Amino acid sequence: MKIQNSVALVTGANRGLGLAFAQGLLAGGARKVYAAARDPASVTLPGVEAIKLDVTKADDIEAAARALADVSLLINNAGISRGSGFLGDDGLIAVRAEFDTNFFGPLQMSCAFAPILAKNGGGAIVNVLSALSWVNMPTSSTYCASKSAAWSLSNGLRNELRGQGTQVLALHVGFMDTDMVRDVKAPKSKPEDVVAQTLAALEAGKSEVLADEVSRRIKQNLSAEPGVYLVPPVAA
Ligand SMILES: NC(=O)c1ccc[n+]([C@@H]2O[C@H](COP(=O)([O-])OP(=O)(O)OC[C@H]3O[C@@H](n4cnc5c(N)ncnc54)[C@H](OP(=O)(O)O)[C@@H]3O)[C@@H](O)[C@H]2O)c1
Repeated sequence: MKIQNSVALVTGANRGLGLAFAQGLLAGGARKVYAAARDPASVTLPGVEAIKLDVTKADDIEAAARALADVSLLINNAGISRGSGFLGDDGLIAVRAEFDTNFFGPLQMSCAFAPILAKNGGGAIVNVLSALSWVNMPTSSTYCASKSAAWSLSNGLRNELRGQGTQVLALHVGFMDTDMVRDVKAPKSKPEDVVAQTLAALEAGKSEVLADEVSRRIKQNLSAEPGVYLVPPVAA
C-alpha cells in the first residue's frame, strides 16, 4: 500500500494517535485525508476533511460509506479504555462499552468499507491494537479483552479480505503519550514515531507492526515458560 496518492479515512482523528495519523498521512503525500470524529468541530488540523463519525453508531457508518466512495486506506484508530476490572461494580458496563468501540466499531467499519476498498484496487485496513492484545492487566482487564478480540478480528479480516487484495495491518504498541494514559507513570512512545513505523510497515506490505520495545518483548515471551500472559505485566 502506497501512502502517496492514497485516500485515507482515520477514525478518532481529532486528537491523540488519530491526529498523528492524519498529520503523517498528509506529510506522506496522501491525496485526501478524511478525519473522522464524533464531533467534527473538534477536527482543527488544516488540510483534512472533517467527517462526523461515531464508530458505535450504525447510521454514521452507513452514511460515511455512502459519502466516501474514494477511500483506499481505512485506519480503525478510535478507542476507549475505562480502566476497569471484570469483577468491579461497573465491569460489565465497561466491557460492553469497550467492545462496542474497540471491537464492533472496527468490525462494522471494515464491513462497510471492504467493498469500497475492493473497488479502489484493494487498499488497506490498519487496526490499532495494543501490547495488551496478548496480556491482561488487572487495572484494565476489560480493555485488554476488547483488544484481544480486535486482534482476532484483524487476523480474520486478513484471511477474508486476502482474495480482494486488501492488506490488513495490525498495530501493537505499549503506552503512548496521549490523553488515554495521561495519568500513567511509565515510559511512553511518541504517537508520531508509532505512525512513522506504521506507515513504513504499510508501504512494505506487512501484516503486523510492533511499534515499541514493550510490544516486541511481550510477543517474544508468549512462548516463554511460563508464558508472559500468565503473570501481570509490569509495564505494557
Ligand atoms: N495511549 C496508549 O497508551 C495506547 C496504547 C495502545 C493502543 N492504544 C490505542 O490507540 C488508539 C488511539 O487512542 P489514543 O491513545 O489516541 O487515545 P485518546 O487520546 O483517548 O483518543 C481516543 C480517540 O478515539 C475517539 N473515540 C472514542 N470513542 C469513539 C467513538 N465511539 N467513535 C469515534 N471516535 C471515538 C476519541 O474521540 P473523542 O475526542 O470524541 O473522545 C479520540 O479521538 C485506541 O484504539 C487505543 O486503544 C492506545
